Order: sequence, then C-alpha cells, then structure tokens
Amino acid sequence: MKQYFIGIDIGTSAAKTLLMDEHGVVTAQVSREYPLYQPANGWAEQDPEDWRNAVFSAVRELVERSQAEPEQVMGIGFSGQMHGLVMLDENGKPIRRSIIWCDQRSAAQTQEMCSLMPEEKWLEITANPPIAAWTAAKILWMRKEEPENWEKCRHILLPKDYIRYCLTGVFATDVSDASGMQLLDVKNRVWSDTVLECLSIDKAMLAQVFESQEVTGTLLPEAAKELGLTEKVKVVAGAADNAAAAVGTGTVGDGACNISLGTSGTVFISSDKFGVDENNALHSFDHADGSYHLMGCMLSAASCNKWWMDDIIGTKDYGAEQENITKLGENHVFFLPYLMGERSPHNDPNARGTFIGLTMDTTRADMTQAVLEGVAFALRDSFEVARSLGIHIARTRICGGGAKSPLWKKIVANVLNIPVDIPENEQGPSMGGAMLAAVACGEYPTVRDAAEAIVKLTDTVEPEPELAAKYEERYQKFRKIYPACRDLFLELAK
Ligand code: XUL
Repeated sequence: MKQYFIGIDIGTSAAKTLLMDEHGVVTAQVSREYPLYQPANGWAEQDPEDWRNAVFSAVRELVERSQAEPEQVMGIGFSGQMHGLVMLDENGKPIRRSIIWCDQRSAAQTQEMCSLMPEEKWLEITANPPIAAWTAAKILWMRKEEPENWEKCRHILLPKDYIRYCLTGVFATDVSDASGMQLLDVKNRVWSDTVLECLSIDKAMLAQVFESQEVTGTLLPEAAKELGLTEKVKVVAGAADNAAAAVGTGTVGDGACNISLGTSGTVFISSDKFGVDENNALHSFDHADGSYHLMGCMLSAASCNKWWMDDIIGTKDYGAEQENITKLGENHVFFLPYLMGERSPHNDPNARGTFIGLTMDTTRADMTQAVLEGVAFALRDSFEVARSLGIHIARTRICGGGAKSPLWKKIVANVLNIPVDIPENEQGPSMGGAMLAAVACGEYPTVRDAAEAIVKLTDTVEPEPELAAKYEERYQKFRKIYPACRDLFLELAK
C-alpha cells in the first residue's frame, strides 16, 4: 500500500502543510496565513487559536485535495517557530496570546537570570547566554508583569507542541525546539534540574522531551474526524523550524550548512560535536538527527523585503520590482536590516533599520537592491563568526520564502562567495516535518538516511569572481555601519 506523511510548519506568517509519499514526492501543499500582533514597539504575539484553526483547516483541505485515502496517511511530523511561550490553564486552554520568538520585552529578565547564576554556568548547561528571545526570560517576564495569568498556568508549551496537544492530548516536545527554551541541558538532551531549580520552575509544567523522529502519540478521535484521517496516524515529535528545515534540505553531517530566508534569516551549521560559541553570536542547539548545530539568527530577513514591498512601495509583484535591478554589486546605498532589533551577531534589541548613502540620484530600484543586499550582508556576519571559530563552510543550501527570488539567491552566493545549492522543495521546514514522520513510521532507518534518499538538488548558484570581489568591498563597508550607529541606536531607544 502506498503510504503518505504530513508535514506541518507553524511559521510566523502562516501554517504551511504538505503531503509527501514514502519516496519523498510532495503531492499536495496548503498554507493558511494568520496575524502577528505587535501591541508595543519590540513586542510580538500570536494567538494559539489562530495556529490551531489554520492547521485544522489546512490539513483538512490537504487531505481532500490529495490522492491519498485516509488510511494511507501514516504519520504527521511538525516544524515550529522556536522560543514562543504558550501557557495553558488546568483545562488545557491557552491563557493569553503567545509571546513569540522575536519579542524583545524581556531584556530586564536576562539580567536577573545572570544574577541568579553566572553566565558561564548558563553557557555550560544551556549552551547559550540568557537573552530576551529564549522562553525562560519570557516566563520570568510573565511571572513579574502578569502574575494573574501566571497563577493560572499549568502547562508551558512551544508553538508546535500546542498543536500536537490539540491533535493528541499529549504534552510533548523535541530536543531541537526544547534547546531554545534555555531550560534544557543541551549537551545531554534532558531538562536541566539545576536550571529549573534556579528559576523556580516546576518540571511538571513542562512537556516530555523526545528525539525528533520519535512517536509522541496518535490522533484523538475528534481530531481524526475533523481532519478526515484515521485515529491510527502517528504524531511524531518533529523539530524546531530551523532544524526541520535542515532535515528538509538535507543539511545533515558535520559542517553542512543551510540558509533560511524566512521571516527570520538563519545560518544553520550542522555539527557532530557539541560546541558553544564563546562570542555569544551563534546559538548552540540540538539537531533533529541526534547531533548538534550552531546557528546565526537575524530577526528580520525576508520580512525586510516584505515590509519594503508591501508597506512602503505598495506592491505585491516582488518579481517585477526586482527586474529593475540591473547594477549588482554597484549600489551606493546600504541598508541595515534591523527592523526588529538584531540577534546574531550583535545581540542588540535597540538596533534599527537604516538606509545610508542616499543621494539625489538614488532610485527606488537602488533601495530595493539595498534591502536584498543588506540581508545578505547580515547573513555574512554570521559566516564571519563561524570562520573565526575555525569552521570551514564550503557551500550552503537555501530555503524559505525569500529563496524563491533568483536575484536574491545570486546576491547571497556572491556576498558569501560560495556555491548555493537549491533543493527541489523550498518549503524546507514542512518537508523536514514530513521526513521525520516517515522515519518514525519505519520508512527509513535514520534521519540521515531519509535526507540522503529524499532530498534532491535542482540547481547550484555559483559565485562569479568579479561580482564576488565587488561584494567583498561593499561588505567591508557594510560591517562598519552598525558599530558607527550603535550608540545612537541606544540613545534613540531612550
Ligand atoms: C531561531 C528563531 C527563528 C524562529 C522563527 O532562534 O528565533 O528562526 O524559529 O522562525
């Protein structure tokens, strides 16, 4: 019997779902968008019920649209935006909107965390220093600022794990996503009793931790009915979106690299060995294939282009706008892509988006080009940190909405001066989720076997020596802009 697997990605802009057969052929894809709420500058929230409604309606349509019979769908695997705090009450209902990954409100709590335990110890156990992004700081913020909500909280979940709970009634998470909560002993892949005690967090509130390819439960009868599936469907742990994207693009094995050009922009470097970046610029988390990874994360990547196109220029035709860009490497305008502050490598919530170098002859195309280039330069910043750690990245893969643009991929290849391999499916995260489900259901012995068998590359964008040299010169200018603005950003934030 033919078998199918569903991948569900709880992204920031939408829930993206796909149906894949046992050979990795994608037969249907359905997405549903939902809102992002920004109640104050630097705050970002989403409603878990929006995620739930989007997933149920998308999966229902996926099943209806596909050729698959319900009993042929064997497994569901997740990918999810990381770090978001979902709090459930004693009846398993969300208490309030989720404070999501790019929210910056809990900066003060990171100081409190460093006063409770020295930074070296945080690094040793959780592999990362306290920053506002991680779920731990969000929990401390909640306890201090909304004690009435905290009082009601019985379960703390990550975004994709709330959807799992809706599907199975089980409280479970996976190692790659749990790594981003700052409550996990990342090297040993278990909750850290030391950290939980230090922050006075009751372990019973947390989900059970699984490896990404492990089965966490099966569909509840009412969920199966609503989705048009059988109760036998295995619901698999899944992974954080970046780890899932790495699986979905075949980024496994020591030194393999993937760039995700989504709402966030990430440089994901798979590593067989556990390691911590002492510069605190790259994050260190568990990978979904049993190994580890280092990752640079920009808070706004494709979202900078979306902001520039949708809100400022006022067009939905990104391709037409990019056709006007004819002088690659020769722009006099630079753009700092820090519209939500920045994480890697600056760790500066006060950093801001900036155009610099405008003149009377600056055109709209120059500014569009500067936005695309600014994001690529900021990705290069993470590559430079990796290089300084002695990591050699020979080539990279790429996925995410931004990777649909041939021009942007060319800019990235030349700014990084390495070949950029293009996987067949640019929906890396949901693909990774479906592949993890296929492994859990016994289709492939390991995650790496699945990646090798399923992921196909359709093209490679090679850097061009002359263009790469021009971009090298421009990057050296770009990297001077943030240090020159840093103090001003702080002053503006006050
Ligand atoms: C990674 C991060 C983002 C989110 C949203 O640390 O915060 O990549 O996972 O995609």
